[in-house]
Amino acid sequence: MNKINHVAIIMDGNGRWGYKKKKSRNYGHREGLNTVKKIIDETVKNKIHYLTLFAFSTENWKRPKSEITYLFKLLENFLHKKIDDLMRQNIKLKIIGNKKIFSEKLKKILKNSEKKTKNNSGLQINLALNYGFKEELIYSINKMIKYKKKINVKNITDNLYTQNIPDPDILIRTGNTNRISNFMLWQIAYSEIFFVKKLWPDFTKKDYNKIINKYSSIKRNFGGL
Ligand code: IPE
Ligand code: IPE
Ligand code: MG
Repeated sequence: MNKINHVAIIMDGNGRWGYKKKKSRNYGHREGLNTVKKIIDETVKNKIHYLTLFAFSTENWKRPKSEITYLFKLLENFLHKKIDDLMRQNIKLKIIGNKKIFSEKLKKILKNSEKKTKNNSGLQINLALNYGFKEELIYSINKMIKYKKKINVKNITDNLYTQNIPDPDILIRTGNTNRISNFMLWQIAYSEIFFVKKLWPDFTKKDYNKIINKYSSIKRNFGGL
């Protein structure tokens, strides 16, 4: 049985789900948030220590302003309403991505949520916001230059946003699209990847547990035998 330390998820398909229901893309985003809550609960139940959720990419700024505004409004509401639940569930929240671009208000909300949950010892949720791997790599390289570090695997790893976080054992992408879209390209080098046809709002606890069960029977080689 493989032990699961870290699950990473590319939560894709909200917009199409909204259209499928003859409503807006934003309607799909709102429903997607319900799936997020369910999957968090299930991750806690399964005693998995890290859950990384891809919520907004460095490329998602190309979307209409009304959609971007809605997504960040959802995020603010979520953090506002869920913070007590996160505390109750002993969950620690960490933001990965480039926060510099965010408004002072949002920066403050993110910082407060991280600060408040920082001593929680249960599940750690890494929320990927304005996250893109290419930018993360440049961030790591710049830090290595600044501190005159040798370029090697350990130092690149230790200077990414994900420093001190083990690599994902499982990567899930919903939404019937078989691509990685600039997500954790270094960290998923040996992850087991599951592409799911269902759109994110339709993804259930049962679907999640099926993947977890499947994973536990996979033989991981890491290049060995
Ligand atoms: C959610 O799915 C991912 C986010 C950027 C929040 P999408 O919004 O990409 O939905 P689709 O892929 O267009 O259906
Ligand atoms: C990836 O989904 C980003 C998130 C889930 C946040 P996208 O919908 O942005 O990916 P592409 O553009 O279809 O590759
Ligand atoms: Mg998409």
